[in-house]
Amino acid sequence: MPDIGFLNGEFMPLSHVKISIEDRGFQFGDGVYEVVRTYGGVPFQLDAHLERLERSAHAIGLDMPVNSTEWDEWVREGVKRAGYPECKVYVQVTRGVASRDHLFPHNTPPTIVMSVREMRSLDPALCRAGVVVITMEDLRWGRCDIKSINLLPNVLARQRASEAGAFEAILVRDGTVTEGAVSNLMIVNGGHVITPQEGMHILSGVTRRFVLSLARKGGIPVEERNIDLRELRQAEEVFLTGTTIEVLPVVRIDNVPVGSGQPGLLTKRLRALFQEQIAP
Ligand code: PDD
Repeated sequence: MPDIGFLNGEFMPLSHVKISIEDRGFQFGDGVYEVVRTYGGVPFQLDAHLERLERSAHAIGLDMPVNSTEWDEWVREGVKRAGYPECKVYVQVTRGVASRDHLFPHNTPPTIVMSVREMRSLDPALCRAGVVVITMEDLRWGRCDIKSINLLPNVLARQRASEAGAFEAILVRDGTVTEGAVSNLMIVNGGHVITPQEGMHILSGVTRRFVLSLARKGGIPVEERNIDLRELRQAEEVFLTGTTIEVLPVVRIDNVPVGSGQPGLLTKRLRALFQEQIAP
């Protein structure tokens, strides 16, 4: 079964999608994106992802000639065509094709692409055992709330983590923990779930918000505020959230065990609550 591609309103096999070298996404990273996954074949939190896509496009002055209803139909159609048990949908909008010039082009339609591939979840054993992370300086720009396709600092951070034998890099800006290179971060102390507040230095994760609402509904106190590096290192529990990783325990930071060195009780509870919600 071929992976599904989509270019400017037309579905085709993924390998048939061709983009000009003068696409501004390719030359400037001038675009925005989303990653959505399905559970039971149904796109998870699609409205929230599409809202964020619109917010990101608006924030970079990119006019999307498409509304959420059309996006919604395209994503569902792509999932139907792919026919996989579970899909990972990537959508990207760039400022279109124009001869290279930093200034916005006039009368140039955006390039809209989508890919639908089979979603392969993380190894359940890894999710149960937890992952190792490193910390490093957050070298990204000042608008990390925009889901921009400019991911070079994230790429470099994740690569460095991988070379250090770690799953993720936790980014630290001026002593304050922001998020992971591809995930949001939460800690547990004294029975409270604590996570950096939304703002320009983190992505407003769809999973982050979903997990916080599960915590609140489950009577777990939530604090959205700054976390400094010292508090991270002394946390009783640490976990990551994200579309592809769900709720993922962290058991070592920079080679030092988190708490007992095993996934924490509250983390496991939140992971279980999450699993209950997505069960078909
Ligand atoms: N990334 N923070 C960053 C920097 C991210 O790239 C992501 C997700 C998240 C989690 O957001 P959400 O819960 O909405 O997936 C947080 C996607 C999956 C990616 O780039 O592949």
